[in-house]
Amino acid sequence: MKSTLVVSYLPSGADSVSKKLLDRFLEKSQGKTTVVHRDLLKAHPPVFDEFSLAAYRARNYGGQKLSEPQAKALQPFDALIKEIKAADHVVFAFPMHNFSLPGVVKTYIDAVFFHGELFQYTATGPQGLLNKTKTAILYASGGAYEPGNPYNVVPPVLDIDLGFVGVAEKRYINAGGTLGAPEVMKKNLETAQNDVDKLVADWFA
Ligand SMILES: Cc1cc2nc3c(=O)[nH]c(=O)nc-3n(C[C@H](O)[C@H](O)[C@H](O)COP(=O)(O)O)c2cc1C
Repeated sequence: MKSTLVVSYLPSGADSVSKKLLDRFLEKSQGKTTVVHRDLLKAHPPVFDEFSLAAYRARNYGGQKLSEPQAKALQPFDALIKEIKAADHVVFAFPMHNFSLPGVVKTYIDAVFFHGELFQYTATGPQGLLNKTKTAILYASGGAYEPGNPYNVVPPVLDIDLGFVGVAEKRYINAGGTLGAPEVMKKNLETAQNDVDKLVADWFA
């Protein structure tokens, strides 16, 4: 059976429209994939300080063996890296905040994008190492954004970041217009839920 890692940040709780998309994914994919849930609300991802960044550089770029305190400082990063590398599919679920992904989701990305793990530099340039992983990004936004609208920074940022680690697929599913007219929101949510159904059918046929 395929494995799915869900990385979520859903601070609106039961009212969250992004959660509705994730719930739909979980309901439709039940029995078709194992699921590991990394809930960023419950535990924030680690952030580099001077000590851990130096340890990362020494080990992942310098090939040095770490001291016990250095290894301990990288352990929270290493645990998240092991988790994402083990997944066949990764589903991100979060709200749009300030036209982009919430900071804690970017912090997660910064915590797992390690040289020698998710990417590496070769003589011919950078190489993504997450190239068997399929990803989906489920997100709600107050505004409704046409594809390419520069105010929606979610796809451009993740296109670059997820592209850099070479993921096999990126699928954006946006329920837009949650702060607009209820009938528009309803229609957009239904469209997004249908897109989730299609995602599940494509991934777990
Ligand atoms: C702190 C904050 C910032 C937001 N920034 C934006 C924004 O820049 N653009 C937008 O369209 N909606 C914005 N919204 C609205 C949310 O994207 C919208 O309420 C959406 O439904 C949130 O997803 P959720 O229902 O899963 O929490 C913001 C909401 C909050 C709470």
